[in-house]
Amino acid sequence: MKKIGLITLGLAIVAITATTGGAMAGPPFGNPADVEDGNHLWTHMAKARLVGKNSLHAMPYETPPPHGSFVESLDGMLTVNGHTGVVIVKKNFGKRGETTKQQVADHPDKYMTSVTVMFKREKGYDPENKDWFWAKYGADGKLLKNPKGMALAGRVAKGAEKGCIACHAGAPGGDMVYIHDRYAQ
Ligand code: HEC
Repeated sequence: MKKIGLITLGLAIVAITATTGGAMAGPPFGNPADVEDGNHLWTHMAKARLVGKNSLHAMPYETPPPHGSFVESLDGMLTVNGHTGVVIVKKNFGKRGETTKQQVADHPDKYMTSVTVMFKREKGYDPENKDWFWAKYGADGKLLKNPKGMALAGRVAKGAEKGCIACHAGAPGGDMVYIHDRYAQ
């Protein structure tokens, strides 16, 4: 009995550390809460036909690295867990120099390599970085991981020299968005 009590206590401490880790100390992304948020976001994007089998498609266009050789971008307002914010969904396709625009346009699902998303969260989520939530999924909607095994969801990779936030900080208009300034305040 005593042993079971100790194990339960141990598990409780692990659970508390895991939940508080998201917002307080600990890494700024890839925590269980970030993963849950990322999975929720995918479900809502699929319902809105921004991703998934019934997704609407735009004409692909060519982009510089690091995203796909061709990409499709869709954006608009999305409500997730009672919060409504701008979502920018970018589907990345093909291999640079090998895939053609026509191949991507004809068979988007076959050539899709990943889906990168920015979702504007509630005020205060990450004030230094315009409150964006960042996520990167495989074409199947599963969150991808960095080489350290951390899921790419949340404030990715806040404070680091490389990654979503570091690179997007240089986007024109001060909104962290490269392709347009539609949502710049
Ligand atoms: C080395 C720089 C760099 C990194 C790292 C990077 N991006 Fe981007 N991203 C860009 C550039 C440049 C564009 C615009 C060109 C394009 O559409 O590919 C862009 C476009 C986007 C867009 C469309 C909106 C916009 O800003 O134009 C989204 C969404 C996006 N990236 C998400 C992400 C996510 C999520 C990550 C991290 C997993 C990430 N990006 C990492 C450079 C980067």
